[in-house]
Amino acid sequence: MSLRFVTSNGHKFAEAKSILNGYGVSIDPLNLAIEEKRSESCARVAEASAKIAYEKARVPLFVEDSGIFLNALHGFPGTYSAWAFGKMGYEGLLKLMRGVRDRRARFVSAIAYADEKGVKIFEAACRGKISGRPAGKNGFGYDPIFIPSGSRKTFAEDAATKARVSHRRRALGCFAKWYVEKNNRKGKIIGKEKS
Ligand code: IMP
Repeated sequence: MSLRFVTSNGHKFAEAKSILNGYGVSIDPLNLAIEEKRSESCARVAEASAKIAYEKARVPLFVEDSGIFLNALHGFPGTYSAWAFGKMGYEGLLKLMRGVRDRRARFVSAIAYADEKGVKIFEAACRGKISGRPAGKNGFGYDPIFIPSGSRKTFAEDAATKARVSHRRRALGCFAKWYVEKNNRKGKIIGKEKS
């Protein structure tokens, strides 16, 4: 049975599928209604959701919690990014940042994997800044206003860079290496590293 990714976000699923494919790990979506724990830490939110999801489904699975953290706004919207996006979109965040010089921001992704042994967490960030205006059509959420460090383009303008450096790419990369190694030790050849 393939590994399950508990999410209702089609964009997240597509990104995760493509990233994990590179490690030979195949996934299927699992849509479960889970009430998210309130915490300012993506890792804690993901951990709590993974526990609940495993209790319900009893199959190896992972969940992801992510968000964008703005320095000038003391980390807002952070773990409330989905909620904030629903209320005001990226346009609202740009408005809050109007005239603000410190534009530093980071995306964070926490993967929580659960099986009969418990929960394992993998967290990673992608640093960058908030653009002055939206640009690009790719991706989802705050992609049109986030420029990763070392680039001049937003994630929505440059999907190839997003695929290489994103928070999700990094967290899933750490998870995939651990997951493949764990299964290989048990004699189950799950994945193959890209050469
Ligand atoms: P959650 O992890 O389901 O709580 O949602 C995280 C929210 O953060 C998403 O709904 C997006 O608004 C935002 N977000 C997370 N990752 C990304 C990304 O890769 N690009 C743009 N927005 C993101």
